[in-house]
Amino acid sequence: MAFVSIDGIDGSGKSVQVKRLVERLREEGKNVVQTKEPDGGRLGREIRALLTRTDRQLERVEELLLINAARYDHVRSVIRPALAAQNWVVSDRYFDSTYALQVFGGADDLLPLFDAVMRSVVGDSRPDATIILDLSADKAAERRKIRKDGHSDPAEAMRDFVQIAAGFRSAAAQDPRRCHIVNADRTEEEVHADIWSRITPLL
Ligand SMILES: Nc1ncnc2c1ncn2[C@@H]1O[C@H](COP(=O)(O)OP(=O)(O)OP(=O)(O)O)[C@@H](O)[C@H]1O
Ligand SMILES: [Mg+2]
Repeated sequence: MAFVSIDGIDGSGKSVQVKRLVERLREEGKNVVQTKEPDGGRLGREIRALLTRTDRQLERVEELLLINAARYDHVRSVIRPALAAQNWVVSDRYFDSTYALQVFGGADDLLPLFDAVMRSVVGDSRPDATIILDLSADKAAERRKIRKDGHSDPAEAMRDFVQIAAGFRSAAAQDPRRCHIVNADRTEEEVHADIWSRITPLL
């Protein structure tokens, strides 16, 4: 078993690639638990409703703490039990999203808080591999316009995706053994084949 997260800016193709990777692993005979953040666990579904409200833009520190309350539950109720039962786990977003969205480039230095929260919330439940889908903010915006999965996140409109994409690249640079930056500006099949080539060493 192994733990894989797929991350990247909104519209970069995470959901499409998570689905393909999970299908491919199942074809290989693996038991796979597919999950996502922030709403992978029960608490996360309630917290997601708070995060996507538009009547008051939450402060980064508020988002960081809310998301990690959800993550605390997600790690203990979904990820650890799945790995303990020898399943593969594939998560659509994980803590690199928190770094890229809430920590990187902010006016306040939330890195010490982020590091402390990661130690107690995530601990050693770190992915064996993280795929960072790299796509320009403009191209991701084009894809978000045509997205057909009924997905809606009103807070999306307020985000600076150029900065967030830089945040993901920064996260990857800090942990190059775990993180693989994958060029997402290719066909779904090409992106999947690239992701698969990074995952096969874990099989
Ligand atoms: N390689 C690709 N080429 C062209 N279109 C793509 C590609 N990958 C995904 N798409 C399309 O782009 C849109 C966004 O993809 P997807 O929903 O997987 O992104 P996402 O990263 O999960 O977004 P979000 O963060 O908002 O959930 C969808 O309509 C999807 O079909
Ligand atoms: Mg998605």
